[in-house]
Amino acid sequence: MDVMRGLGERGDSTPLPGVENLMLHFTPYAEDWSKLPVIVSGEGCYVTDDKGNSYIDGLAGLFTTQVGHGRSELAEVAARQMKELGFFPNWSMHHPRSLELAARISEIAPGDLSSSFFVSSGSEAVETVIKLARQYHKANGEAERYKVISRRVAYHGTTMGALSVTGLPTFKAPFEPLLQGFYHVPNTQQDPEGAADAIEEAIEFGPPETVAAVILEPVQNAGGCLVPPPDYWSRVREICDRHGVLLVSDAVICAFGRLGEWFGIERFDVVPDMTSFAKGVTSGYLPMGGVVVNEKMSATLRENAPMFMHGSTFGGHPVSSAVAIENINIIEREGLLKNVHDLEGHFGDELRRMAADHPIVKEVRGMGFFWAVEVNPERGDGTPLKDEEYQKYFKGVVSRKLLEGGLICRFDDKEDPVIQFSPALVADKEILSKIAGITDDALTELERELGYKS
Ligand SMILES: Cc1ncc(COP(=O)(O)O)c(C=O)c1O
Repeated sequence: MDVMRGLGERGDSTPLPGVENLMLHFTPYAEDWSKLPVIVSGEGCYVTDDKGNSYIDGLAGLFTTQVGHGRSELAEVAARQMKELGFFPNWSMHHPRSLELAARISEIAPGDLSSSFFVSSGSEAVETVIKLARQYHKANGEAERYKVISRRVAYHGTTMGALSVTGLPTFKAPFEPLLQGFYHVPNTQQDPEGAADAIEEAIEFGPPETVAAVILEPVQNAGGCLVPPPDYWSRVREICDRHGVLLVSDAVICAFGRLGEWFGIERFDVVPDMTSFAKGVTSGYLPMGGVVVNEKMSATLRENAPMFMHGSTFGGHPVSSAVAIENINIIEREGLLKNVHDLEGHFGDELRRMAADHPIVKEVRGMGFFWAVEVNPERGDGTPLKDEEYQKYFKGVVSRKLLEGGLICRFDDKEDPVIQFSPALVADKEILSKIAGITDDALTELERELGYKS
């Protein structure tokens, strides 16, 4: 890896062209945007910035580049498809690639999930889930079912419907009022034993005949890789069935190998009524998202509704579809699901071994290639950090040290502070150990600054 030069400080005073013109996503105005890294290229698990610094991409872009960066196979497939048919919509007509992709997804999706609706992002996928649930119940003669239950702290996207599902008040506050009929229950970290019962209580409070769907991630991302108790999903499945409520897995992060399975939910031995997906379906080489629904839902809609009253110009885009098919082929050809299963133990062990030397670490948790290290926001003597100190030490020291060490990952504090890892599925033992090693150095520095005894 290259020596890290001038990281986080662009060094010269030359203004970065475009920095005044580009609005970044979820990036505080208080940060100096002209000093943020400019990532220019990528290869495998690594990316390089415009100064030649190389980093392990420990977050796979944003839980996305499953097959790693720099895949010429995907570029070639995209170029071929652009030459053959660069664009055509999925409105009232077919084109071969979205047909092939839908057929492929029905082969790999769990249980009887067999009909796909394609969109261009995870938020749109969640939006589609809400509309499918509501229209399905109307088509099924239960028009009064419209309410949606999801979990506190969970992130499900930014469009107004997906944001209404999201359980993060600060993400919603600037845009209130949001949609009606969205309820949030404790997640499995907040109440491990009672979290499934809380869903039943919310349905009963509904009352049940007004509740359309429960939407949950297989492993909740926000809050830091919240792996549910082993019986959680089967209990929720049973509760939803008993009350006639649809169970939705939002697998925007967890699908396409992140947990070592095609849709993530297989790890919990449950078949939902629908699953959303996005990100990893194309490894991010082109935007795509979608929803797969079960036979009962697609049959009811076909029989009782004039059409699914929803669509978008780019849904099922031929070039995105072609890239998705090749991405799935790569995952299969290179045995990447197996790689994740084979190495998840190593990754977890490395993180736990590293954490054992750091009293500041509260918990290491995760599954597949999706892990979080939770840290205590307090000094070595147990004093809680004030907000400015927290910003200085956690955001400042940890984020800087990780980047200087050559690791891009996420320092997240939607709930308790966590460092999150989600490398490409091609990562080998060495890369996973390096991720733990760089985190080790960052935590050593943090503990030194906060007066922990070494
Ligand atoms: C579980 C989940 N759902 C939905 C979304 C929204 O996806 P997008 O950013 O593609 O709109 C995300 C994004 O991270 C997500 O993690």
